[in-house]
Amino acid sequence: MGGYAIEVEGLVKRFGRVYALRGLSFRVPRGETYGLLGPNGAGKTTTIRAIAGALRPTRGRVSVLGLDPSREPLRVKALVGVVPELPSLFPELTVRENLLFIARVYGIPSGEAERRMRELLEFMGLEAVASRRYGQLSKGLKRRADIAAALLHDPEVVLLDEPTGGLDVVAASRLRERLAALRRSGKTILLSTHNIGEAAELSDRLLVIYRGAKLVEGTPSMLRRALSARRITVYYRAGGSEVEASRLEEALQEALASYDPSGLRVAPGSVSVTVKRALDALWAIRETLESLGLKVEDVEVLPPSWEDVLLHHIEEAEEGGRTCRCGVGGSSAW
Ligand SMILES: Nc1ncnc2c1ncn2[C@@H]1O[C@H](COP(=O)(O)OP(=O)(O)O)[C@@H](O)[C@H]1O
Ligand SMILES: [Mg+2]
Repeated sequence: MGGYAIEVEGLVKRFGRVYALRGLSFRVPRGETYGLLGPNGAGKTTTIRAIAGALRPTRGRVSVLGLDPSREPLRVKALVGVVPELPSLFPELTVRENLLFIARVYGIPSGEAERRMRELLEFMGLEAVASRRYGQLSKGLKRRADIAAALLHDPEVVLLDEPTGGLDVVAASRLRERLAALRRSGKTILLSTHNIGEAAELSDRLLVIYRGAKLVEGTPSMLRRALSARRITVYYRAGGSEVEASRLEEALQEALASYDPSGLRVAPGSVSVTVKRALDALWAIRETLESLGLKVEDVEVLPPSWEDVLLHHIEEAEEGGRTCRCGVGGSSAW
């Protein structure tokens, strides 16, 4: 089996005329946290459901700890904890009752179940609400209870489908702290998200999927460094002469033509643009401004944002025709 907890090879899933997955392959080493990043409709949930044994692939192979989830769903369920996209516990039962019910389903002896439950209530910060009905909890607390429920049988592999989806920033940030702690516990985690920063913060490796196929894979820092573009903002002062924005924009476009410029913005007092070879481009911007009687006052150079990184890869894939767009439904908005 090697050092991989999850292996996905050439996974295809078709729903009627829609291809949700069109040949996805990746491997998750044991003990690592692997981020599955993609916009709505990319195929994240379908991938997770295939790994959890909740749907049968049209083609391709899935292996979880050496088992095929579509052939041996029960053995896989014993080793895998799944946190689905939507709240999944009984609303009328309290958090404690839900957890005890799940313990019975898994056949965990009652003493052991009590002990695990106490540990998990503490770990997920749920002690104060353990006797409240699940249906009455806030979204953030529901999410934490879902995770506690998925961890109750101490699975080796945990699948989390958009755990912070729909949470406000405070609840999401608190949940990320818990997820970081879970990551340190040494379990193998597959985490899907459409939040780029979250994927980068929590994952050892991440896979960007788009329209059911792999766009790019690597460590968060690799993906970021791979893009040599920089966002430059130059702040200037008009040295007495007024320059029309359109004239300035034209002059900058011309001066920067060899630096692969994108997103040029000319505002009163500042210009910003994303370019390659930022140092040389900076000189060109300065020369242009000064030739128009404007004086450079300050400068800011930023690495590409995660949005830049993703858009770059998506544009590259679309230009190269690496992903086929035929027949894929769902929204592609982030
Ligand atoms: N049960 C289903 N029936 C039909 N189409 C589906 C079904 N599940 C997912 N899809 C379609 O497959 C694509 C991928 O969906 P999904 O895996 O849910 O993406 P994500 O979780 O990344 O948002 C979407 O176009 C979606 O509409
Ligand atoms: Mg989904």
